[in-house]
Amino acid sequence: MEKLDRKHIVFKKDQLYLHKHNLHELVAKKKTPFYAYSEKVLEENYKRFKKSISQNKQNGLICFALKSNNNIDVLKKLASMGAGADIVSGGELKQALKAGIKANKIVFSGVGKTKNEIILGLKENILSFNVESIQELELINSLAKKMNTKAKIAFRLNPKVIAKTHKHISTGFKTHKFGILEKDILSSLDNSSLWSNTKLIGLSVHIGSQLTCLKATEEAIKNMCQCANKIPFKLKFLDVGGGLGVNYAKNSKAPSVESYVSKINSIIKKNYGAVKVIYEPGRCISASCGFFITKVIRTKVSEDCRFTIVDGGMNDFVRPSLYDAFHEIFASVNSSLTFPTDIVGPICETADCFGTARELPELVENDFIVIADTGAYGHTMSSHYNMRSKPKEFFLKK
Ligand SMILES: Cc1ncc(COP(=O)(O)O)c(C=O)c1O
Repeated sequence: MEKLDRKHIVFKKDQLYLHKHNLHELVAKKKTPFYAYSEKVLEENYKRFKKSISQNKQNGLICFALKSNNNIDVLKKLASMGAGADIVSGGELKQALKAGIKANKIVFSGVGKTKNEIILGLKENILSFNVESIQELELINSLAKKMNTKAKIAFRLNPKVIAKTHKHISTGFKTHKFGILEKDILSSLDNSSLWSNTKLIGLSVHIGSQLTCLKATEEAIKNMCQCANKIPFKLKFLDVGGGLGVNYAKNSKAPSVESYVSKINSIIKKNYGAVKVIYEPGRCISASCGFFITKVIRTKVSEDCRFTIVDGGMNDFVRPSLYDAFHEIFASVNSSLTFPTDIVGPICETADCFGTARELPELVENDFIVIADTGAYGHTMSSHYNMRSKPKEFFLKK
């Protein structure tokens, strides 16, 4: 049986608890599957990041990546602690504002910003459009002109580095659609027609997600500093993106947030000097606050293969199917007698599997399992595949 206390859940008299919340009572009241978010864990993660910034005496801003979790209660909590937002769509912009995140703390990334999304960002006077092509800059400039305003922009540099992570979430090489090459950034500076209603105030990089080795990140940030030094005026900020990995498995060793922030701090101070630093973390703030809870429908044995069939599917939580991602899974039954079982959903795909050969106790209909670390890229990636409804989300107060 997987150890429970590490992931904030624990048995008390055979009842599974997430801090003070009895999960059996919650499951009895709510329709499964659902996501539960722990306010306590969310707050701890955010404060730890913030503290790392202040320990380095850095002028830093945390712009939480909404793509990892856009739940309104999660965002309200982050807003109340001073967070900004990294957004990639008009929908995320509206959600961030609705949660009380200030427009002057919002950066807008993404290669495909549409006219309407740019207009919305201009109306709200967001902190920065993180521009990913010269064509996008042209459009922002022309829309800002029509609206008689000035857009603040940062170029997203493509630093030509290869981040070691799943290929679907590696974003920092020139074969990836993201960012602009240094030479194209520098030559755009001489084209005055791009700058009548735009102002370059920063640079950004984001080379991938779930990074557990920081070598490529360090290289990318050095490349960003080099590029910044070639710009003939001082920038207001350098945006280092997100990407810090988390420990989904017991034996994995992602860098600590403290070592991550201190490394970034020293690279920037050494290579560019004092400047405001923007961070765009998603996963390392939200992953461990989320728990995906799904009830057992039935079990099935085919010769030596055991299946535990649950009511949650890959439409509700896709990371294991899409990225072969490992997540720890805990059962609602407290027993040391366990069997290896595959945990599968009702979707008509063999990929609809949350874990293979997991040691779990014998489970029967209406028992439930808890999949840990699902607060990032969980609900935000859920879909209606197989005409299923999306899972609900519940924010569990401290
Ligand atoms: C531009 C940008 N910033 C930030 C993030 C957040 O990354 P993570 O959740 O790995 O911290 C992403 C996610 O891929 C991203 O594309």
